[in-house]
Amino acid sequence: MSFLTTQALARSFGGLKAVAGVDLALAQGEIRAIIGPNGAGKTTLVSLISGRIPPSAGRITFDGADITELKPWDRVLRGIVYTFQITSIFKNLTLTDNVALAAQRALTRSRPLWRGLDSSEIATATQSALDRVGLGARADELAGELAYGHQRLLEVAMGLALKPKLLILDEPTQGLSEQEIADFCRLVKSIAQEATILLIEHNMDVVMEMADRITVMNNGAMLAEGTPDEIMNHAEVQRAYLGA
Ligand SMILES: Nc1ncnc2c1ncn2[C@@H]1O[C@H](COP(=O)(O)OP(=O)(O)OP(=O)(O)O)[C@@H](O)[C@H]1O
Ligand SMILES: [Mg+2]
Repeated sequence: MSFLTTQALARSFGGLKAVAGVDLALAQGEIRAIIGPNGAGKTTLVSLISGRIPPSAGRITFDGADITELKPWDRVLRGIVYTFQITSIFKNLTLTDNVALAAQRALTRSRPLWRGLDSSEIATATQSALDRVGLGARADELAGELAYGHQRLLEVAMGLALKPKLLILDEPTQGLSEQEIADFCRLVKSIAQEATILLIEHNMDVVMEMADRITVMNNGAMLAEGTPDEIMNHAEVQRAYLGA
């Protein structure tokens, strides 16, 4: 059985079928990219997987359990962590405080209530998550003072502090420089040693370098799926998306 599966997963907004019956199957430990034109339904699909919005139809299983009815936070507790396309940090808190909030939740989840939280444990987890995304030296700055691209990295640090089994990244490289993108790719590859990655990405260089497999969406449906090579050479994908 796959680590994550969606079966006939669908979501409509009024008359619009944003996700129109998607069957997705992810293996544990893979880096899966989802690509497709604007409005293809990529964000809606991962919002269904994270539980941010409920489906109109279909089922989702993760790590051996049906999670379709679970609330978003219960999915986080099971290890599904989603960094939003629209940034969701607390701008008037420091980087440390933002990440510590996430670390605290992750450390609380596996522990009996009577065993208090060790603040040095939270501090260590927080600093290590910030170091990992390259923001360790700016830990005491206010999140709102970071450039947009760095706010996205802070979100990834918050996600890491939640100890993900499945990390969903929605356009993480948007707003990053070339060098920052290269660093980011290295970071995601290192995260992939411990977690499965679902990556929505428009930068095709990043997709081709990172992905084990690629799922192409168009009009709410899955248009194609395969290795980077297979997708590059897929005639229908070239017509619909790659602009050949
Ligand atoms: N909350 C909503 N209410 C109404 N329509 C929505 C909502 N969210 C998404 N849609 C519509 O559903 C379709 C799919 O949107 P979605 O955001 O999933 O696309 P996407 O593939 O992530 O696009 P992009 O690459 O621009 O991020 C679009 O037509 C969008 O306008
Ligand atoms: Mg989107």
